[in-house]
Amino acid sequence: MAEEIKSTNITWHHADVTRDDREKMNSHKAAVLWFTGLSGSGKSTLAHAVENALFDRGCRTYVLDGDNIRHGLNKNLGFSPEDRTENIRRIGEVAKLFNDAGVMALTAFISPYRQDRDEAREISGDSFIEVYAKCALDICEERDPKGLYKKARAGEIPEFTGISAPYEEPENAELVVDTGVSSLDDCVIQVLDYLQGRGIIS
Ligand code: ADX
Repeated sequence: MAEEIKSTNITWHHADVTRDDREKMNSHKAAVLWFTGLSGSGKSTLAHAVENALFDRGCRTYVLDGDNIRHGLNKNLGFSPEDRTENIRRIGEVAKLFNDAGVMALTAFISPYRQDRDEAREISGDSFIEVYAKCALDICEERDPKGLYKKARAGEIPEFTGISAPYEEPENAELVVDTGVSSLDDCVIQVLDYLQGRGIIS
C-alpha cells in the first residue's frame, strides 16, 4: 500500500558536508547492516557483537534495535501487518540518515515481510546489506529469552511471529548467518569478513 504523501511545498536543502566527506574522515564506508530473523534468533545479540567489534576498530556505528525503538520513536505502532510495515519504513529512513551522517547503521528488527525489507533496500540502495539471522523456530522457541513464545502458545500474545503471524525468509540476503548453529564469535567473523570483502572496512 503506497504511503499517502501529505508534505507539500517543501524544498531539499543540500548540505555542504557530504557523506563522502564524512566517510573519508572516518576511514570507512557507511552501510546499513539489516539483521532480520525470528524473535530469539539472536539478531540483536549478533548486531551488538558486530558493533563491539567494529567499534574496537575505530568505526562509527549505531544499533537500531526493534525492542528499543518501540520504546520511543515507534511506540505508537503495534504488530499488525500495517504497523510492522510502518515500523520498517521508518527504520529504513532512519538508517539512511545514519549513513548520510557517515555512520554504520546496524538494524535488528524481525522485519517479517519481504516487501518491507525490499523497500528498506530501495531507500538505501547499494549501502543495504541484508543479514539473515537464520535459526529454526523450534530453537528460538526453546531459547525463549523473553518468555514470549510461551505466552504466544498460550494465546496471550496475538499475531506473534512464527506462531500466529508469518515470517517470510529472505531469498536474496547478502549474508545468511546460522545463528542457531554457529558460535557468536564465528557469526561476527563472517559479518566482518563480508564487510572487508566489500571494502566497507579495511
Ligand atoms: S517487526 O516485526 O515489526 O520487525 P520488531 O523487531 O520491531 O518487530 O519487534 C519485535 C519484538 O517485539 C520481539 O523481539 C518481541 O520482544 C516483541 N514482540 C511483542 N509482540 C510481538 C509479536 N506479536 N510478534 C513478534 N514480536 C513481538
